[in-house]
Amino acid sequence: MSEHEVFGVDRGRLQSAPFQVFKTNFFNRHAFEPMLDSTHPDWVINCAALANLEECEKFPEQAKILNIDLPRELATACAERNIKFIHLSTDAVFDGTKEGSYSEEDVPAPRGVYAQTKLEGERAVQEANAQAIIARVNFYGWSLGGRRSLGEFYVNNLGEGRNVDGFTDVIFCPMWVNHLAQTLIAMLEKDLHGLYHVVGAQPMNKYQFGVEVARKFGLRESLIAPGSVERSGLTAKRSHNLWLSVHKLSTDLGHPLPDFSTGLDGFYTQFQQGYPQKIRGYQQ
Ligand SMILES: NC(=O)c1ccc[n+]([C@@H]2O[C@H](COP(=O)([O-])OP(=O)(O)OC[C@H]3O[C@@H](n4cnc5c(N)ncnc54)[C@H](OP(=O)(O)O)[C@@H]3O)[C@@H](O)[C@H]2O)c1
Repeated sequence: MSEHEVFGVDRGRLQSAPFQVFKTNFFNRHAFEPMLDSTHPDWVINCAALANLEECEKFPEQAKILNIDLPRELATACAERNIKFIHLSTDAVFDGTKEGSYSEEDVPAPRGVYAQTKLEGERAVQEANAQAIIARVNFYGWSLGGRRSLGEFYVNNLGEGRNVDGFTDVIFCPMWVNHLAQTLIAMLEKDLHGLYHVVGAQPMNKYQFGVEVARKFGLRESLIAPGSVERSGLTAKRSHNLWLSVHKLSTDLGHPLPDFSTGLDGFYTQFQQGYPQKIRGYQQ
């Protein structure tokens, strides 16, 4: 990333990041416009969202503002300023009832407020900015709070010797977040536009993912109990099959996406090198 100048946007947690950070709350409408005008970025990547499924069910109006209105306004502002725009969407726009993988041509059928608002956000971006990239993602990595991704969930709990559930009936395509960032940059450099599935190339269930993490980190996989998401007590509905095909993306990029084991190796190497502590040190 050193060849790119990065500006971040945050609500106030980032105090000493190695790039300039604008403190902003996106509930203030159009708060981003002065940032665009003062920095003149080549690219904007919108990662902001209400991405917690349970919170979306509880606060649908907030989900609408962050997942539909904000992307529409950002897409419009970028189109007006000739800035290339990427909007992150979700694999969860599908209801997961299909056998096999979903392509970009498949008709979404969202379950719940999160997925519904993310789908409407995709459509709002498409309408406002035909040159935008809409990336349906699923990723894991080390987060600022240390507890955001499924990879961290397994490392934290298994590391503490705690028993955890691993859903055998949720298939997904996890991508290491560094691979996601590299792939988004490659898409921008290739000047792609439109809707893409930007997930890992290898589908697996969440239990298998936990076992892979446990083996890589030398943790006890026997602590992971295979089970069903239907008995998990989670209130928002989850789709069972989120196997998304990356055929369109790898064809348009002209090369295959990085494989799962390379990503897991990278995730583990960062752990060995103290990266989780390093990024936590960026916050107050
Ligand atoms: N993680 C995945 O595997 C996955 C899967 C499918 C789709 N996605 C999509 O990928 C994107 C990033 O997801 P994530 O997992 O990284 O979620 P996340 O950790 O909840 O990130 C959302 C970001 O939005 C920021 N944000 C929320 N409300 C804000 C507000 N009012 N003002 C300013 N910033 C605000 C959050 O800031 P705070 O840190 O202050 O809360 C956070 O940095 C989202 O569009 C999500 O739908 C992620």
